[in-house]
Amino acid sequence: MAGKTRKVKKAAKAGEDAVFQKRLARHHDELRWLYMELYGNDAMFAELCSQMKEYYDQRNAKLKKLDAEREAAGAWYRKRDMLGMMMYIDNFAGDIKGVSRKLPYLEKCNVNYIHLMPFLDSPKGRSDGGYAVADFRKVKPELGTMEDLADLAEKCHEKGISLCMDFVMNHTSEDHEWAVRARRGEGEYMSRYFFYADPSIPQEYEKTVPQVFPTTAPGNFTYLPELGHYVMTTFYPYQWDLNYRNPRVFNEMMYNFLYLANQGMDIIRIDAVPYIWKEPGTNCRNLPQVHTIVRMMRMIGEIVCPGIVLLGEVVMEPDKVAPYFGTVEKPECHMLYNVTTMATTWNTVATRDIRLLRQQMDIVCALPREYTFLNYLRCHDDIGWGLDYATLSSWGMKEVPHKKYLNDYFQGKTEGSVSRGELYNEDPVTGDARFCGTTASMCGVESAGFEQDEQKMEWAVRKDLMLHAYMFTQSGIPMLYSGDEIGQVNDYTYKEDPDKAPDSRYIHRGKFCWDLTEKISDKDSVQGRIFEGLSALEKIRRTEAVFNADAEVYTKDYSDQSILWVVRRAEGEELHAVFNFSDEGKTVWMPEKAEYTDLVTGRTAEVETVELPGWGFVWMKKGSAES
Ligand code: GLC
Repeated sequence: MAGKTRKVKKAAKAGEDAVFQKRLARHHDELRWLYMELYGNDAMFAELCSQMKEYYDQRNAKLKKLDAEREAAGAWYRKRDMLGMMMYIDNFAGDIKGVSRKLPYLEKCNVNYIHLMPFLDSPKGRSDGGYAVADFRKVKPELGTMEDLADLAEKCHEKGISLCMDFVMNHTSEDHEWAVRARRGEGEYMSRYFFYADPSIPQEYEKTVPQVFPTTAPGNFTYLPELGHYVMTTFYPYQWDLNYRNPRVFNEMMYNFLYLANQGMDIIRIDAVPYIWKEPGTNCRNLPQVHTIVRMMRMIGEIVCPGIVLLGEVVMEPDKVAPYFGTVEKPECHMLYNVTTMATTWNTVATRDIRLLRQQMDIVCALPREYTFLNYLRCHDDIGWGLDYATLSSWGMKEVPHKKYLNDYFQGKTEGSVSRGELYNEDPVTGDARFCGTTASMCGVESAGFEQDEQKMEWAVRKDLMLHAYMFTQSGIPMLYSGDEIGQVNDYTYKEDPDKAPDSRYIHRGKFCWDLTEKISDKDSVQGRIFEGLSALEKIRRTEAVFNADAEVYTKDYSDQSILWVVRRAEGEELHAVFNFSDEGKTVWMPEKAEYTDLVTGRTAEVETVELPGWGFVWMKKGSAES
């Protein structure tokens, strides 16, 4: 009997090994080629291969089964019913176990993809919202343990929910073991960062490298007097840039990636990707070696844990973003943030001129349909106003004054603006500034609430829902920011916490207001109107074929500069999604007098014109309703 069990086990192991070997064989030559091109180090490549096998062996049976199913399904995440939500664990539910307990609420929100904001060990007060990781294998003690995380992942999988986490690979915290040892002067560890005793090298870099945090953390280097060296710190001085010229750094970070994947993560958000390779004399952004590294990471994932999705955080100008998808034959990231569309959407809110947004949509729609964007209105970061200024200036809008216009508008300084929020990293030299605030505050929920003006509130809610409807109309995966589903407004209490006060991004990183969720079934409350409104749209999105990931999508010319018109076609059906980016009510002419179903009201009728109130929208499906 025992012999038989042993034999069965041996056969199963041989089967698993064969799966690994097959996946390795598929990528081996390209992986080796790229690795050698970058590092020329055979021994380190051999170590990488044997470690990949180790992590594969450690991956549990349930995850391997999920990998196999997802491999067979193809792009499993490209489904019209995907809906994400990003959240801070502590703000939302105290700790990881708390998130497990709150899963029923998230299901009620129709969410099946949860992005947990950084939760790995990170020094208090020097954490950049958790983006300064001190230990890639340890959860912040106050949030729980790795076991809690793996347990949450398992619970999520049982409910068909995917889990996403950040992989901060550009830098470590100065408290990370490598940094601590480097600071002690251990050469082996210093070589994992960028150390210079001679100030002329940092000075050379500063000539060509822009600044990420010009006000809160100026410069790209930090002087360590105890060591008599400068260390490269692109972000905050406590975030030390890793040196990916050193193959030890690449290998170890890949092992960390695989370790985290093995905890049951489904989506790995690679933080600050464009920055991971540095070269003097360049701007140290989007260098070709970055693409080599991301491509290698994609292959490593496909060999060990092919169910995993790489989400690239590329907050760059439009032409720099799409290359991170790689090519269809040699893909890099599975998903990218649709950052330009997000910023351009808010630009349209302020200008009431849809031209740039339409142009941006046309660019996105022209990309291969395999390219999956993550669409969002707001996230944990500021809005950087990365717009197409070449086009804007051809229309007479110059970059610096235009940014000032947008920032004034969203701070509520402009006549007629209902938005509230704060500037972020105002750069006195370039005149540049970014913007922080929640969706609801930017739509006027905060100001209307303050003024107790029901009419203004109605407008604010309508604007909020219309912007979400526009986000849901885009191809890709919609992502809500926790709190937006109940119209949560800015939180100014961060100013009382000395660790947070200098960073205005905390204005939209407030505690989740559970009290407000009690009102979601009250149809008259703001929370109820927003929650129910979003819910209805989400349900339509996941049931109607016109929202298929591979639908044909294009914008339509319309004679009004405030009306954005998007058409989606799939399975013989046609959706006309029309958005009014202005305060004035509009009569919109359909392309022909025909039978349409208004997907929101469910009414089918012969229609020639549609009345849109200010900031209103319609989703009109051509043809008769099935019901
Ligand atoms: C990413 C994060 C941001 C953080 C930065 C540095 O851009 O989204 O919050 O400050 O990386 O890690």
